[in-house]
Amino acid sequence: MIEPPVHAPHREHGVRPETEAVRTQITRSHLREHSSPLYLTSSFVFDDAEEMAAAFAGDVDREIYSRFTNPNVEELADKMRVLEGAEAGHAVATGMAAVFATFGALLSAGDHVVAFRSVFGSTHRLLTDVLPRLGIECTYVGTSDPEAWRDAVRPETRMLFVETPTNPGLDIVDLEPLGALARERELVLVVDNSFATPVLQRPIEFGADVVVHSATKYVDGQGRVMGGTVVGRRERIEEIYAFCRASGPSLSPFNAWVLSKSLETLHLRMERHCTNAARLACELATFGHVEALRYPFLDSHPHHEVARRQMSGGGGLLTFRLPGGLEQGRRFLDAVSLCSLTANLGDTRTIVTHPASTTHAKLTEEDRLAVGITPGLVRISVGLEDVQDIVLDVLNALERSRMSRRA
Ligand SMILES: Cc1ncc(COP(=O)(O)O)c(C=O)c1O
Repeated sequence: MIEPPVHAPHREHGVRPETEAVRTQITRSHLREHSSPLYLTSSFVFDDAEEMAAAFAGDVDREIYSRFTNPNVEELADKMRVLEGAEAGHAVATGMAAVFATFGALLSAGDHVVAFRSVFGSTHRLLTDVLPRLGIECTYVGTSDPEAWRDAVRPETRMLFVETPTNPGLDIVDLEPLGALARERELVLVVDNSFATPVLQRPIEFGADVVVHSATKYVDGQGRVMGGTVVGRRERIEEIYAFCRASGPSLSPFNAWVLSKSLETLHLRMERHCTNAARLACELATFGHVEALRYPFLDSHPHHEVARRQMSGGGGLLTFRLPGGLEQGRRFLDAVSLCSLTANLGDTRTIVTHPASTTHAKLTEEDRLAVGITPGLVRISVGLEDVQDIVLDVLNALERSRMSRRA
């Protein structure tokens, strides 16, 4: 777990989080590198038994073993802590490791979680299949309506869990009333902020206690490495860190190094993801031939008012439904030439996916429909290519998928 570094002279100048993300560097050796060195080591040495015992007792701030933490992991965690405006942070191997460590550390047998119905497929699996085996129950709520959340809370409820915007439905959850409910009922509000990133949305400002990320997405932003982060209230992060230290979902120093450098350009990349996605959304709205077009900042999005209140940009993802269902969805994927067909998102390269046959394939048809995943749903993670090329490729593919239906 990372505490704020003792020596952080740039902070004394009261700089903005974006500047801190660029300048924060807690991994610098005696050589005084300008760019952080990579600490590719599993363990760290001690001068004598006393120093080693003090390190294990937590009496001195020393690195011990890379399963616990590592300077590169600490640097990444600290940058995320700063960007999210959190008290403490830790970084782990994947986004799912971050989600599971949060559940594993903060919940016990007999506890109950209230979660938003539309969550990432693997998170849904943990809540539906894994946690019940550990004696932890989950109730899903399908709306932001605070009364529905209040009704779902029981005496044994410990946690509220939401993702916003959601994957892949792009639902927006109003965080402020959930933060208020969490305070009132002494619950932990956990927010998966992978889609918005702290550049567009800072859930702690709305009352979140813990913010989790799949750093594999926009934090890396170039489809290279996996990673996850958890930031939030110090006591909660200490519990999560202790769980991770024992259970071992450690982030590789190399991945942490890549992700930490990536954070220095996150705000620039997010700006471009947003402008490209907003433009594609407008072009699709004009072009027509798609149903249920969703982009959080389009006025037609059912939660666009909350999105505009809570987020500073609409993000890089949009979804729509093809009237020709599964078949047209497949034809569309086969017709794109610039866009990639791959499972990831948040990449520099535009990616098209078909959730019903991939990320959410393990859900039942009923569960898929409950979160808006119809057979023809297509998700586009809009990249950083020239927007005219993206628009041309998507509209051409749409036209071709329609024409082959008519043929
Ligand atoms: C919102 C969200 N949370 C968590 C995850 C899991 O992240 P990872 O693949 O890094 O484990 C994903 C992956 O797509 C996601 O979209």
